[in-house]
Amino acid sequence: MPSWSVKNLLVRRAHAGAEGDGGSSVPPSLPIPPFEMRQLVGPTDPAMFDNLSGAPIFADMPDGAYDYVFDFGSGCGRLARQMMQQSPRPTTYRGIDLHHGMVKWCQENLTPANPDFIFAHHNVFNPGFNPDPSLPRFAPFPIEDGAATLMIAWSVFTHTTQRQTEHYVKEAARVLDDRGILVSTWFLFEKRNFPMMQDFQNALYINEFDPTNATIFDRTWLAGLLSSAGLQVILARPPWIRGFQWELHIAKKGQGTQVELGEDLAPYGKKPPPVVTQDPSKIGN
Ligand SMILES: C[S@@+](CC[C@H](N)C(=O)[O-])C[C@H]1O[C@@H](n2cnc3c(N)ncnc32)[C@H](O)[C@@H]1O
Repeated sequence: MPSWSVKNLLVRRAHAGAEGDGGSSVPPSLPIPPFEMRQLVGPTDPAMFDNLSGAPIFADMPDGAYDYVFDFGSGCGRLARQMMQQSPRPTTYRGIDLHHGMVKWCQENLTPANPDFIFAHHNVFNPGFNPDPSLPRFAPFPIEDGAATLMIAWSVFTHTTQRQTEHYVKEAARVLDDRGILVSTWFLFEKRNFPMMQDFQNALYINEFDPTNATIFDRTWLAGLLSSAGLQVILARPPWIRGFQWELHIAKKGQGTQVELGEDLAPYGKKPPPVVTQDPSKIGN
């Protein structure tokens, strides 16, 4: 059973990444997702869903990066909404998420504003968000080989289990264009500090009822996983709170220069996933 029914308590996804409180107003033409959906993905301030400067949400991308954007774990369209306001706007955008209500909201509220932005339900099991136990634990991406010039997985591999991550990293390598970039975030630890872990155990889970609440991977294991998929890290931004999320830009081997992750020397702090009290799978359905 999902954690919320066992303890009448739901622990929301960890913070989705974009930090700070802009306080800007929202353009009236683009709807803003309801508060309870914003809560499911992290930042609730509407300004965090906006991009009033119109600058590309990820700077320093190669030419053509926004030709075909694949957004894995698109949530309630926070990044899609920001990219609708940027120049260059993605020529093609595909977003998938396992939460049915958030995908439906994006289909009904964002696609009409820009039909190049398409959202699809990725119907895989999740203890809180898509709790039908008969569903598969993972599935292929609905994206053609080599199509994605930019794949985004923002605050998503921080919620996938080890088995799911192994699958989805291989899928990322399959769907990336030869010059494509995967922008992703990760919680990482050093397994050498945990001598009780077996060779095949490379993830830590903070929630005994819902392991996808937050997942933390051994950084050496991740480097090996990426390498075996033909991928490498070409940019690594360390966390701003010690142990919080790394931003990793990942490309196919031979594209760009591989970088080491370096040390996490950020100041200590706290950033636990907030607690919500309603069944998240019902929101928006
Ligand atoms: C913390 S939210 C971040 C959402 C969005 N990327 C953003 O930055 O606003 C994580 C999202 O990933 C989705 N997700 C997690 N695992 C997934 C999976 N295996 N397949 C599809 N979506 C997944 C969740 O449903 C949730 O919407």
